[in-house]
Amino acid sequence: MTAKFITLEGMDGAGKSTHIPRIIEILKTRGREVVSTREPGGTPLGERLRELLLHEAMHAETETLLMFAARREHIAQIIAPALARGAYVLSDRFTDATFAYQSGAKGVPADKVEILEQWVQEDLQPDMTLLFDVPVEISIARLAGARSPDKFERESADFFTKIRDAYLERARQNPQRFRIVDASKSLGEVAKAVEDIIATI
Ligand code: TYD
Repeated sequence: MTAKFITLEGMDGAGKSTHIPRIIEILKTRGREVVSTREPGGTPLGERLRELLLHEAMHAETETLLMFAARREHIAQIIAPALARGAYVLSDRFTDATFAYQSGAKGVPADKVEILEQWVQEDLQPDMTLLFDVPVEISIARLAGARSPDKFERESADFFTKIRDAYLERARQNPQRFRIVDASKSLGEVAKAVEDIIATI
């Protein structure tokens, strides 16, 4: 399999974003274009929706609909054209985050998310998803030392536990595309694990 659409997932504080520059560097050595992007966001409209999503209180289903509105634009403007050009697309979060946060943690029924997933993505799915998995206490401790928290980062341990469980359940349901990274290890060990996974792509 030559994975082209790669997504990074995990709880806040799992440390996934730290590894993006190295992943881009490795992929670039293959001589292919690399498009690095993120959700919510990735387009000018998506970034405006991100501002609302990260800082405004709203109903969990409104949040879900806005995530997919941003995602529709992201696919149309960035992801689909890049994949059509044969590029690697690396997205910091994608639809698994909606299953984890809006469904797993906030209770939006998974079948509603599945309807939107089908509507917005049709056949598009990541070829590979790296899940940065970390015990809740570690993620909370890391966030406590970080910059000022956004709306999602101010939630309780119970909320984070639900996110982690929902992500691990997604991984169990989609073993062919998920690779779980034990992100509780040292930065160097996690970086090595990520490099080993990217080498198989
Ligand atoms: P994150 O990706 O962690 O960015 P940063 O490192 O800048 O904080 O933040 C995005 C937040 O959005 C994160 O808390 C998860 C949340 N989110 C959802 O709740 N649902 C989604 O579908 C996506 C893509 C993100």
